[in-house]
Amino acid sequence: MTNSRLNVNIDHVATVRQARRAPEPSLVAAAMLCEQAGADGITVHLRADRRHIQDADLYTLRQTVNTYLNVEMNVSDEMIKIALDARPDAVTLVPETAEEITTEGGLDVRSQLEGVRGAIDQLREGGLFASVFLDPDAEQITAAHEAGAQQVELCTALYAEATLGARGFHGQGAARAAHELQRLHEAATLAAQYGLRVAAGHGLTYRNVAAVARAQEITEFNIGHNIISRAVLVGLERAVREMREEINR
Ligand code: PXP
Repeated sequence: MTNSRLNVNIDHVATVRQARRAPEPSLVAAAMLCEQAGADGITVHLRADRRHIQDADLYTLRQTVNTYLNVEMNVSDEMIKIALDARPDAVTLVPETAEEITTEGGLDVRSQLEGVRGAIDQLREGGLFASVFLDPDAEQITAAHEAGAQQVELCTALYAEATLGARGFHGQGAARAAHELQRLHEAATLAAQYGLRVAAGHGLTYRNVAAVARAQEITEFNIGHNIISRAVLVGLERAVREMREEINR
């Protein structure tokens, strides 16, 4: 039993809103419901193409999120400026490419150490907490430490993919899932030895999160798609019933 914090990533509430450029569903309401249900924080990802979260959302959420606001963004002057202005509790630096559907793996800090260090320096001088999203790789963790990061968020995507084929860790893919899990645990241990706080996320689900949560060093999870997917399904019946009642009235 661990007491890791859970930040709920509500990007896809904004994805539904942006599909219609409508006021609904409200991100503020979504964040409040997450907090009421026990979330320790809210995560949003401001992407270069603004396909879900908009700049204005950061300012609104900053005023309304009572727990902890973590904003994921790429390493660019534009984004760092926005972060320093919007003042979330934490900024997580992530890679970003124009073609991606979602973030594809961790940031390569080693190959752009000076750039990442410069961004982290600005964030920390501005009083913000700086995290970097990394593959569970010793070289990258060491680079993040050298760059002055206060936290690493370990990318769980490869582990999560492996569990899709693992069928409860007994079928095909089980060995790969176990290998990826081992990599995550080793990376978490190394990061903690550097004195870094350790988070994890990407592709985690109700079925695969528990094994990762056994790593005592991991103190925070950022989980979005699977929670929002489930929310759509568990909420659908009530939503239809309420519309049925309105039509019947
Ligand atoms: N952590 C980071 C750095 C991410 O980019 C994302 C996706 O935006 C997540 C966590 C959450 O991933 P998922 O939506 O698959 O739970």
